[in-house]
Amino acid sequence: MAPPRRTAGLALLLFLGACGFFQSCAVEVDVKDASNVTCLYAQWMMKFLIKYETNSSDYKNASLDLTSTVTHNGSICGSDTQAALLAVQFGDGHSWSVNFTKNNETYRAEFITFTYNTNDTAVFPDARRQGPVTIVVKDAMHPIQLNNVFVCHHTTSFEAENVTQIFWNVTMQPFVQNGTIGKKESRCSADTPTAAPTVLPTVANVTTASTTVSPAPTTAPTPAENPVTGNYSLKTGNKTCLLATVGLQLNISQNKPLLINIDPKTTHADGTCGNTSATLKLNDGNRTLIDFTFVVNASASVQKFYLKEVNVTLLNHQNGSVILSADNNNFSKWDASLGNSYMCRKEQTLEITEDLQVHTFNLWVQPFLVKENKFSIAQECSLDDDTILVPIVVGAALAGLIVIIVIAYIIGRRKSYAGYQTL
Ligand SMILES: *[C@@H]1O[C@H](CO)[C@@H](O)[C@H](O)[C@H]1NC(C)=O
Ligand SMILES: *[C@@H]1O[C@H](CO)[C@@H](O)[C@H](O)[C@H]1NC(C)=O
Ligand SMILES: *[C@@H]1O[C@H](CO)[C@@H](O)[C@H](O)[C@H]1NC(C)=O
Ligand SMILES: *[C@@H]1O[C@H](CO)[C@@H](O)[C@H](O)[C@H]1NC(C)=O
Ligand SMILES: *[C@@H]1O[C@H](CO)[C@@H](O)[C@H](O)[C@H]1NC(C)=O
Ligand SMILES: *[C@@H]1O[C@H](CO)[C@@H](O)[C@H](O)[C@H]1NC(C)=O
Ligand SMILES: *[C@@H]1O[C@H](CO)[C@@H](O)[C@H](O)[C@H]1NC(C)=O
Ligand SMILES: *[C@@H]1O[C@H](CO)[C@@H](O)[C@H](O)[C@H]1NC(C)=O
Ligand SMILES: *[C@@H]1O[C@H](CO)[C@@H](O)[C@H](O)[C@H]1NC(C)=O
Ligand SMILES: *[C@@H]1O[C@H](CO)[C@@H](O)[C@H](O)[C@H]1NC(C)=O
Ligand SMILES: *[C@@H]1O[C@H](CO)[C@@H](O)[C@H](O)[C@H]1NC(C)=O
Ligand SMILES: *[C@@H]1O[C@H](CO)[C@@H](O)[C@H](O)[C@H]1NC(C)=O
Repeated sequence: MAPPRRTAGLALLLFLGACGFFQSCAVEVDVKDASNVTCLYAQWMMKFLIKYETNSSDYKNASLDLTSTVTHNGSICGSDTQAALLAVQFGDGHSWSVNFTKNNETYRAEFITFTYNTNDTAVFPDARRQGPVTIVVKDAMHPIQLNNVFVCHHTTSFEAENVTQIFWNVTMQPFVQNGTIGKKESRCSADTPTAAPTVLPTVANVTTASTTVSPAPTTAPTPAENPVTGNYSLKTGNKTCLLATVGLQLNISQNKPLLINIDPKTTHADGTCGNTSATLKLNDGNRTLIDFTFVVNASASVQKFYLKEVNVTLLNHQNGSVILSADNNNFSKWDASLGNSYMCRKEQTLEITEDLQVHTFNLWVQPFLVKENKFSIAQECSLDDDTILVPIVVGAALAGLIVIIVIAYIIGRRKSYAGYQTL
């Protein structure tokens, strides 16, 4: 006998808590499956701060709270193959939803979709553009143990596309089994009294999650020093085939902003050279791996190389499990003619994902056709092009000098003229 398939949410209950003046409503959504048992449960409070353009072309902040008329159409139980969806609609054309996916052991929130309607004159009295605006934000929540209920009393919030979404008193569980809400709680890190200050490497394997960055302690990323520049090379046999000089800094904005400088002293270079593709793999000896893949663009009339892919992996210090793995294979940066090297002394940013950037400093790289262990002629990035500035500065100084001379001359003439007159 096949067990009942839990795919669609059939019935759905919704209770509203106290919604007073200046007070947000608590929303409770209980999605039932085909056999009339709970498959998705959530109770939470939220509000939104929205910056919008007024018809006098300046920007105003509106605060959007949940009203007492909340509906819940479109929520879905989810399954192994289908994402669960928690969706609510409220007020004059506003809606909010979050979808969840799961694997064998965990579930996680994927995307939050929020639509606000600037047509709602009670909230946006003087909006320049009237109508719905939809934003989609990738949720930063860590995966949570299946059958655990996620609880976060502390306020969490995040800002994206001129909207700050604020949540508190959250209790939620997608993929509920047997209609029973989990007895085990996974608390967000903000609720955990011993919330470690350096969140990422140490706390990452804790299954608690914070929906996003907490607003109250807006700890800016520690203003780290610029990283030390390292020299890296690869060899085939006894011949150098790839050269790279670079200072590297990771900027991780999961949970809390975090800057990590790569220490060249402990960093080991590995990888592969090739005729059309080369990969430099850096391992900082402290559980951070960064791979750079360069390719040759053969279709161009002049053969060029460029950086195509960057892959960053952070491992847990204790057990070596993967904390974060990010890959972007869609770059076309750092390009130069084949046989030359590429140089960029200024800070550059490689955006691997929304949450992870790699900053480079004092970059000089040659992934192909290295001759005699030395860099070939460098093609510099436009940022470095100070050479154009020099003539401008000199020219400006000269122009200033000429003006001064002319003024001095005129004053001189006047004076001497006046002088002669009195004589
Ligand atoms: C689901 O169960 C509730 C009580 O638990 C009952 O009131 C309701 O009628 C049931 N709905 C369906 C569609 O069976
Ligand atoms: C979750 O929602 C986002 C935004 O609507 C959508 O792009 C994405 O495909 C959804 N994910 C799944 C697994 O359905
Ligand atoms: C899920 O579990 C099955 C069987 O236990 C296993 O073969 C599979 O690799 C697991 N998948 C993941 C993503 O852990
Ligand atoms: C801006 O909108 C408000 C409300 O719709 C209206 O009263 C006002 O006259 C508008 N101002 C301009 C400059 O359009
Ligand atoms: C704005 O709201 C009014 C009343 O709710 C409705 O008649 C109108 O069609 C809406 N306009 C847009 C652009 O949504
Ligand atoms: C956000 O606000 C700025 C003005 O501060 C505006 O230029 C920009 O277009 C807005 N972005 C969105 C997505 O509304
Ligand atoms: C959150 O819930 C607790 C207990 O249900 C309640 O005492 C508290 O006032 C709530 N917090 C807010 C900000 O509403
Ligand atoms: C759900 O019920 C099945 C069969 O009764 C049981 O094997 C399973 O452990 C239950 N799951 C949970 C989370 O209680
Ligand atoms: C490098 O290898 C080649 C051939 O294997 C050899 O002739 C040469 O002497 C080596 N050079 C050095 C510096 O070891
Ligand atoms: C290793 O990384 C951790 C966390 O980023 C840092 O606190 C520690 O100082 C690093 N150790 C070394 C030797 O770089
Ligand atoms: C990124 O690097 C890690 C570690 O080297 C590797 O396991 C992973 O497969 C790589 N991902 C991609 C997409 O290349
Ligand atoms: C996290 O890592 C620590 C240290 O390796 C380990 O003791 C703990 O069991 C891990 N927790 C989880 C939930 O994996």
